[in-house]
Amino acid sequence: MDQAKGLRQIAKTDALAKSHGRMASRTKKFPRVFAVTSGKGGVGKTNIVGNLAVAMTQGGKRVVIIDADVGLANIDIVFNLRPEFSIRHVVSAEKKLDQVMVKTHHGIGIVPGGSGFSDLTQLNEGEKLTLLSEFETLVDQADIIFVDTGAGISSNVLYFNAAADECIVVATTEPTSITDAYALMKVMSQKHGTRYFKLIVNMVDSEKEAKRVYLSLSNALDKFLKNVVLEYTGYIPFDRQLQRAVQKRGLLLDEFPDSKAANALEIIASNLLKNGDKNRSDGNLTFFMNRVFQVAM
Ligand SMILES: Nc1ncnc2c1ncn2[C@@H]1O[C@H](COP(=O)(O)OP(=O)(O)OP(=O)(O)O)[C@@H](O)[C@H]1O
Ligand SMILES: [Mg+2]
Repeated sequence: MDQAKGLRQIAKTDALAKSHGRMASRTKKFPRVFAVTSGKGGVGKTNIVGNLAVAMTQGGKRVVIIDADVGLANIDIVFNLRPEFSIRHVVSAEKKLDQVMVKTHHGIGIVPGGSGFSDLTQLNEGEKLTLLSEFETLVDQADIIFVDTGAGISSNVLYFNAAADECIVVATTEPTSITDAYALMKVMSQKHGTRYFKLIVNMVDSEKEAKRVYLSLSNALDKFLKNVVLEYTGYIPFDRQLQRAVQKRGLLLDEFPDSKAANALEIIASNLLKNGDKNRSDGNLTFFMNRVFQVAM
């Protein structure tokens, strides 16, 4: 083969490989990332994340939970796990994400946050890159990623919410929980341009009560923050069985699968999955942590 012909051949092979690569990246399925957050603490986020994860796993999804919550009952406690390492060890490059992630008996991967997420802005470039490349490995391991972000409007909570595809706000009927949920969405929209939220109303007596909370929040948003859309995702009744499960260091869906709240959580899980990919951002760039760092810059 003469040299020119050889080069043409190489170029052709390269072009083919590239076009296959493009096709592969176009068909590659990125995990859906849900941030679960609240204005006020103690409204049920961690239990909601844990139970939704179980419901989705039972529905055949591969689920990973990233615990970015510095609240009292962390996700590992809810699953009765005692992880040895946390994301801190990944940041310091002592461990790989695989070594830090613990699996529940359902097969859910838990990434313990510990104090590793105490302030993302404090990470140096090297640490950010390490975390970034480790989180990339989740792309092939998960269909769904939940981030339990914790409550409030601290910078980390805002970063994780802004980086996720979908931001689920949890509120209760308590006036402070409603005003804090509003304040959170206001800051998110003004600081990070987030325009789309989902609402779960927890610990209600009836769906009517949940709808009332939804209406008061969406009316306030309509009035004061024109571009922000709040979608009603569902309600969870106040249920002593959930508290009993917590006391047993178990999860409601495992301990009392036929309870009212378990039913409600299953409905929410299936609604979230049914509503597929609408309103999600293009997960094609370098995925989730990349977006965390973009917003954190
Ligand atoms: N549907 C419910 N019915 C009855 N009690 C509930 C319900 N949801 C949550 N709780 C109670 O609220 C407590 C706090 O729940 P959880 O730890 O999940 O809240 P959180 O929002 O993650 O809190 P934090 O902001 O501290 O992280 C639970 O231990 C349970 O006692
Ligand atoms: Mg919590």
